[in-house]
Amino acid sequence: MKAWLSGWFGGGKPRIEIAKLRDAPRLAELHSASFHRGWGEGEFESMIAERNTLIQCLRLGRRTVGFAVSRIGADEAEILSVAIDARHRGRGLSRDLLLTHLGHLSGRGVRRIFLEVEENNAPARRLYERAGFATVGRRDRYYRQPNGEQLNALLMRRDLS
Ligand SMILES: CC(C)(COP(=O)(O)OP(=O)(O)OC[C@H]1O[C@@H](n2cnc3c(N)ncnc32)[C@H](O)[C@@H]1OP(=O)(O)O)[C@@H](O)C(=O)NCCC(=O)NCCS
Repeated sequence: MKAWLSGWFGGGKPRIEIAKLRDAPRLAELHSASFHRGWGEGEFESMIAERNTLIQCLRLGRRTVGFAVSRIGADEAEILSVAIDARHRGRGLSRDLLLTHLGHLSGRGVRRIFLEVEENNAPARRLYERAGFATVGRRDRYYRQPNGEQLNALLMRRDLS
């Protein structure tokens, strides 16, 4: 059996579930491993408790290996973060997560979704473009890296019918 296939079955079938308070430590761990300014456990606890924030976890068996976070305001939402554990990237897991997330946002009455993505983040741009997002703006030197480098952000939008 191919390595990725055995890894897939070894980890169990992917499931996407709404985050619970007990997920906060693992979500903070995943976030810190994926972004320079990691959100702490307390920040995740607050967001999980907030009614206007939707956090969904991607689980393989008992393990949480990814998440998506959005903030909802009236009929608009902003996707704040999507991440997959580095050991599980490259096999399309984020696509199901994102599409399920969009479905939940739609179910909550959201009609327009925005997000910001770093211009050079090819996997993320591809993920969002394939999910129907279009680039509607650009913010020059928006992200400052720990080494002082400044990176551009693209603003993307998708309307839900
Ligand atoms: C962005 C992220 C969530 C994607 O998760 P993933 O499940 O590993 O995604 P995939 O490997 O399936 O890749 C998504 C798409 O990008 C493509 N891709 C991957 N690496 C690429 C690269 N270096 N250049 C171009 N395209 C690339 C894949 O082929 C795939 O496209 P496809 O569906 O047409 O085949 C994941 O890389 C991640 O967690 N990154 C760190 C956090 C982050 O940057 N989040 C997004 C900003 S909020």
